[in-house]
Amino acid sequence: MEIGVAYDYIRWEERAIIDAIRKLGHEVKPIQVSKKVFWLTEMNGFSGLDFVIQRCVSFYRALTSTAIFEEQGVTVVNSFRVIRDCEDKLYTTLRLSRNNIPVPRTAVSFGREGCLSIAEELGYPLVVKPIYGSWGRMVSRALDRDSLLEIIEFREYMQSPHFKVHYIQEYVDKPSRDIRAFYFWGEIPAAIYRVSSSWKTNTALGGVAVEAKLDNELIEIVKKSGDIMGGGVLGIDILESRDGRYLVSEVNAIPEFRNTVRVTGKDLAKIMIEATIKNMKK
Ligand SMILES: Nc1ncnc2c1ncn2[C@@H]1O[C@H](COP(=O)(O)OP(=O)(O)O)[C@@H](O)[C@H]1O
Ligand SMILES: [Mg+2]
Repeated sequence: MEIGVAYDYIRWEERAIIDAIRKLGHEVKPIQVSKKVFWLTEMNGFSGLDFVIQRCVSFYRALTSTAIFEEQGVTVVNSFRVIRDCEDKLYTTLRLSRNNIPVPRTAVSFGREGCLSIAEELGYPLVVKPIYGSWGRMVSRALDRDSLLEIIEFREYMQSPHFKVHYIQEYVDKPSRDIRAFYFWGEIPAAIYRVSSSWKTNTALGGVAVEAKLDNELIEIVKKSGDIMGGGVLGIDILESRDGRYLVSEVNAIPEFRNTVRVTGKDLAKIMIEATIKNMKK
């Protein structure tokens, strides 16, 4: 096979994916999206590829280059739809909730008054998130009415219009960790706890990865969540509530996995490519 790898920055993950493709005996075509010209009115020479693994860090680069590959006849993992739906936290929460996946109680408002009435319903503390973003960036916790209003004020002066969509969620009083489970085409190859003294447990913010074993209830939640979001290669984040519930907090369509490989010993790049090829042949 000839497999494309679309990227903007080469992280540990992209290197691992490129190596895995070669080790499995396939051709790899690295595509540095950030340096390329993509013709919209002409073909771009990708039609010989069996599929492309999309790995751009930038959401817009990932989404737009995927649109071009797909419209020009190349299958992309993950697909345009999956990337778009998962990147948008509003949409992910909405879709999962409508399909009876447990998620934190969440509402959206476009103005201050609305935010205050959501807070009245949910109580404090609560969590305000950008609908697009990762690494815990600008995910904020409002401890009381004043801090909520301060967070909303900051958001209202931000340039990007998506900050004016105020996504407000109940604060889940989880143990000092959350769970990241990988979903590759309906299977769960590995999962970790991200343990942290901070309420934001992202490994990008210092959360420490520890291998996690999932019970049957959580395995079912993760598999159903992945299927509902459109399948492919996903990183699914779960919060554990004090009363023992699992709540899906987000689904990542271009997940990082370096720390998971380090602590679980699972070769996720290889498993990802093998599972993807198997799925393509179905
Ligand atoms: N509702 C919540 N209650 C408690 N902790 C949360 C909640 N939402 C997010 N967190 C914590 O904040 C981190 C970042 O939030 P997340 O929604 O995953 O945003 P990002 O996409 O930036 O990673 C999570 O890994 C989790 O530790
Ligand atoms: Mg996250």
